[in-house]
Amino acid sequence: MNTIKKVKLLEIPKVHDERGILAVVEKDSIPFKIERVYYLYDVPSGSCRGGHAHKEQQSIIIALSGSFEVIVDDGSSKKRVMLNKPNQGLYIPTNIWREIENFSAGAVCLVLASTIYNEDEYIRNYESFLLSKG
Ligand code: TYD
Repeated sequence: MNTIKKVKLLEIPKVHDERGILAVVEKDSIPFKIERVYYLYDVPSGSCRGGHAHKEQQSIIIALSGSFEVIVDDGSSKKRVMLNKPNQGLYIPTNIWREIENFSAGAVCLVLASTIYNEDEYIRNYESFLLSKG
């Protein structure tokens, strides 16, 4: 069963020249094949997103713009990670509860996902999550 030790900040390779920065996510630089990309924007201040775990989906969360905090929780331990760099991605394996909060104005939260959307693989109830951890 996954623990928050497997949650990792990944450095996204970038190419920097006088015209700006180009960051690249390529298939060999991340631990899964991307099946879906989604993003959150226009998040009102004080909003909390997430509040679920996934039985099958692995994710990489990137603060494309602005900043926010991701709280990851394996049922025994929790940690809070501030994301505020577009060339950093937070890898979250399966079976980790996550919440995202403290969005700055204009923040854009990009999620690279290993599965297509399937509500059946979500765990949205925290008690059920803890039970699933045994
Ligand atoms: P939700 O899981 O609550 O978003 P967050 O992870 O930010 O808390 O999803 C909000 C709504 O969007 C919910 O009705 C499910 C739907 N949804 C899709 O239809 N497709 C998707 O790929 C995702 C991630 C969510």
